[in-house]
Amino acid sequence: MRLIVPTSPLWLETVLGDFDAFLVDHAACERKASGTAMAFLSHYPDRPDLVAACAELAVEELGHFRQVVGWVLRRGLTLPADRRDAYVRRLTRECRPGAAAYFLDRLLIASIVEARGCERLALVASAHPDAELRDFYRDLARSEARHQDLYAELAGRYFPLGDVQSRLAELLAVEGRLVASLPAVPALFSAGVEVVEETVPS
Ligand SMILES: [Fe+2]
Ligand SMILES: [Fe+2]
Repeated sequence: MRLIVPTSPLWLETVLGDFDAFLVDHAACERKASGTAMAFLSHYPDRPDLVAACAELAVEELGHFRQVVGWVLRRGLTLPADRRDAYVRRLTRECRPGAAAYFLDRLLIASIVEARGCERLALVASAHPDAELRDFYRDLARSEARHQDLYAELAGRYFPLGDVQSRLAELLAVEGRLVASLPAVPALFSAGVEVVEETVPS
């Protein structure tokens, strides 16, 4: 998968400028990623391949949460109250009605969110002044790359390749416009940014 719009250098600058704020948001994102995997397996219990893959993934993401919380606590920070994320919410709105279309869209959006997370964690890994954190983020970025593939492979297992590819292209175009339109905040995606309906210019 190719993200259409790369994350701007301003995002990385913003994150490195308030890394504590980024870290507590990142912890929440890992917890939500585990929740996403749990939601898939509870909504589609009749698909053994998906249940097995998402059970593994939920545990792995919760492990990431535990690791990031370790950093949060080492730095004397506390986790904030849960915040809605404009980026994830806006992408989720792209899910079409109808059981099959909705299922495909959810898988592809999950894959895109993992891909964007992977890209951004790799940016942190490339630039953080602390070598231990650079190593930590490099490992995490590798995991998120696998997760992006996992959701895309599940889509390919349940839907014809042509349908997957054409819908993925549409969703990637929306995601690119969305990323370009959102302000840079010290968060993995856009927690704290007001959700506005017209976030994505067409
Ligand atoms: Fe993760
Ligand atoms: Fe992930």
